[in-house]
Amino acid sequence: MKTWTTEKFKAAKGREKLSCVTAYDYTFARLADEAGVQSILVGDSLGMTMLGYSSTLPVTMDDMVSHTAAVARGAVTHALVLADMPFLSYQCSLEEGLRNAGRLLKEGGADAVKLEGYYPELTAACVKAGIPVCAHLGLTPQSVNVFGGYKVQAKTRSAVDRLLEEAHGMADAGAFTVVLECVPPDVARAVTDAVPIPTIGIGAGPCCDAQVLVMQDMLGLTPAAPKFVKRYAELGETVKAAFAAYVKDVADGVFPGEAECYKPAGV
Ligand code: KIV
Repeated sequence: MKTWTTEKFKAAKGREKLSCVTAYDYTFARLADEAGVQSILVGDSLGMTMLGYSSTLPVTMDDMVSHTAAVARGAVTHALVLADMPFLSYQCSLEEGLRNAGRLLKEGGADAVKLEGYYPELTAACVKAGIPVCAHLGLTPQSVNVFGGYKVQAKTRSAVDRLLEEAHGMADAGAFTVVLECVPPDVARAVTDAVPIPTIGIGAGPCCDAQVLVMQDMLGLTPAAPKFVKRYAELGETVKAAFAAYVKDVADGVFPGEAECYKPAGV
């Protein structure tokens, strides 16, 4: 068993602030796991970060299963692996949602699934079937066309009341944690204080029980990042400089040098 289970994650509320980072492949999952990140999210943001789409909507179940399996092979000792249910994999029927959620555990090796939006019935059905669920409220990027853009949510009293109601509803249905995306910090604090499960914030201020960031944003692999991102590295610049140095070395005949060659056969 890995260090972090859904039970342990839930029990950390109020005791320990936890970190989550997205990862989509074996290498970065291994690095995050070895660094002590408590949870890795195989987000459907992979549609944008890994596949180059302009939104998360085209991501398929097969994409999610394949990337989740790679991450699960990398995160073997420590981190809980959460996998996103992609657009239209669960919105049409309870049965289809349950079957697809099961695929992420059975074929992908995820420890839990994440659902955007208010789906208490599906959440209860998943938990009954042995599939832990992470809820995701606030800005839910699969609904970008309804929101009219990636905008801060829960800015009015009625929207805050609805968010509180939905967070309670998902917790009552059995979700073990809830992501709050792009909501004002005081709203995130109110939800965090109100619900019995940990909140995981992204663009939701410091009062959430846990934080999540998209790996490419925090490592400086994207040209620009949203306001709420802190850049912990500038890997994009480092990688570009390394590629450029390689191109130059090859062009100059400096690579491969003697150090990179096998012993001559002497024939
Ligand atoms: O897909 C994703 O990366 C996410 C995070 C932004 C929470 O859902």
